[in-house]
Amino acid sequence: MEDTDYALGRTKAEYERLIEQAELLRPLTERMLLGAGIRRGMHVLDVGCGAGDVSLLVSALVGPEGSVVGVDLDGEVIQVAEQRRAAEGIANVRFHRSDARAVESGRLFDAAVGRCVLMFISDPTAALRHIAERVRPGGILAFHEWDARVMTASPMKQPVLARLQGLITRTFERSGAHLEIGAELYGRMLDAGLEPETKPLAEIAVHMGQDDVAYRRWALFAKSMLLKMVEYGLATEAEIHDIADHRLRDELLPARGLIPLSWLMIGQWGRKPAR
Ligand SMILES: C[S@@+](CC[C@H](N)C(=O)[O-])C[C@H]1O[C@@H](n2cnc3c(N)ncnc32)[C@H](O)[C@@H]1O
Repeated sequence: MEDTDYALGRTKAEYERLIEQAELLRPLTERMLLGAGIRRGMHVLDVGCGAGDVSLLVSALVGPEGSVVGVDLDGEVIQVAEQRRAAEGIANVRFHRSDARAVESGRLFDAAVGRCVLMFISDPTAALRHIAERVRPGGILAFHEWDARVMTASPMKQPVLARLQGLITRTFERSGAHLEIGAELYGRMLDAGLEPETKPLAEIAVHMGQDDVAYRRWALFAKSMLLKMVEYGLATEAEIHDIADHRLRDELLPARGLIPLSWLMIGQWGRKPAR
């Protein structure tokens, strides 16, 4: 049961992009998880775990006395996550294939977390309700999702990146993904019967230029979404290759100032009522 036309694709290159993206978002997500109250000893569910980065981050926060279960709809990405877990010798994480809304577990979790996943689910409020059923009373739900209304690249100083960001967001929009889900999470958590935090964390990942970090980030994004951009008639393959292989490189590699690496990421958490 997947609801949006998953615009990022399910290729090896996309899984590698997810891992690179996770490296860029890691400090933001770690601050969000600590703010939400993820602590040593907790038993945590990570929904839409992808290649496993949030699960592996949580595994370090909960320590050996805690545990993590990562689930994803995509069986292949679960294999990637499992290989990475095994290679790092991490014992307190398990991965398995499951829809976020139908996780089977004998024991209730102390917390459920997720990053960039509710945006792909047609009814995120209903999903929050289902996920909360797997969390103990008084437990935590913490999600890190974007708000793409906030256009981060400067159309004056970074016109190629601004054009690409516009193409990416229009492609997600056509696919049915929720572009403003980060900003909606507070209200959706209230509607799902949760007690959301009134001061969530909102951050944009940024980079100072003169190396290929920002260029790689956006070129890989463009390539993962190329098929859908073309299918939806938003751009031609030649145009995306021209942006990703030439114009973006010319614009971003010599940059001497700030380049956005993400849209606004909103870390919103809340509690399930204690009774
Ligand atoms: C953009 S990736 C993010 C992966 C990971 N959370 C991260 O931040 O690195 C979104 C993931 O959500 C998964 N997904 C989408 N809808 C889902 C659902 N209903 N249940 C479980 N996973 C889902 C996709 O398969 C994909 O792996």
